[in-house]
Amino acid sequence: MENYMKMEIAARSENESFARSAVAAFALTLNPSLTELSDIKTAVSEAVTNCVVHAYRDNEENAKILIECKTETLPVQAHRGDRCEKYGVIHITVADLGCGIEDIDKATTPFFTTLQDDERSGMGFTIMQTFMDEFSVESEKGKGTRVRMTKKIKATENGEVKERVNA
Ligand SMILES: Nc1ncnc2c1ncn2[C@@H]1O[C@H](COP(=O)(O)OP(=O)(O)O)[C@@H](O)[C@H]1O
Ligand SMILES: [Mg+2]
Repeated sequence: MENYMKMEIAARSENESFARSAVAAFALTLNPSLTELSDIKTAVSEAVTNCVVHAYRDNEENAKILIECKTETLPVQAHRGDRCEKYGVIHITVADLGCGIEDIDKATTPFFTTLQDDERSGMGFTIMQTFMDEFSVESEKGKGTRVRMTKKIKATENGEVKERVNA
């Protein structure tokens, strides 16, 4: 069965922890492990931070971030060797209507940043890629950027039903 949530927030750094906690709270319906939950928080945090620091750097008027999450609670089957594991899935989209990215390949290269002197590591996209199972970026100059990420949530841990994590 599918479930979803959509939200719009002002692109301000003080909303970053709210956004990551809101997505994590929504993900709880899939009964994630603490590690899975913290992977999601880390990735969302990087995506939202990028909207705040990069997307609206030339025009802060009407700066907003749109976040959508969709979960598939019906376990998705995945074969690992001769073991069959069951998964739920969360799809997360973080979008802005800002300046856009000219060269996505370059932007997603580890350590590439356009804000070198500003404490940015250039590792945001790499972190999203590493912590999530699927990752893609769409962007149009002057129109905005959309990051899509998917995380598989294991339905069981070594065949056992997992401990439930609370918000
Ligand atoms: N939402 C966005 N809007 C416009 N540019 C972006 C956005 N997200 C990322 N970028 C561009 O991609 C580069 C790489 O992003 P990232 O890997 O997160 O590194 P960092 O944020 O440390 O620069 C940024 O320096 C910026 O030029
Ligand atoms: Mg970043």
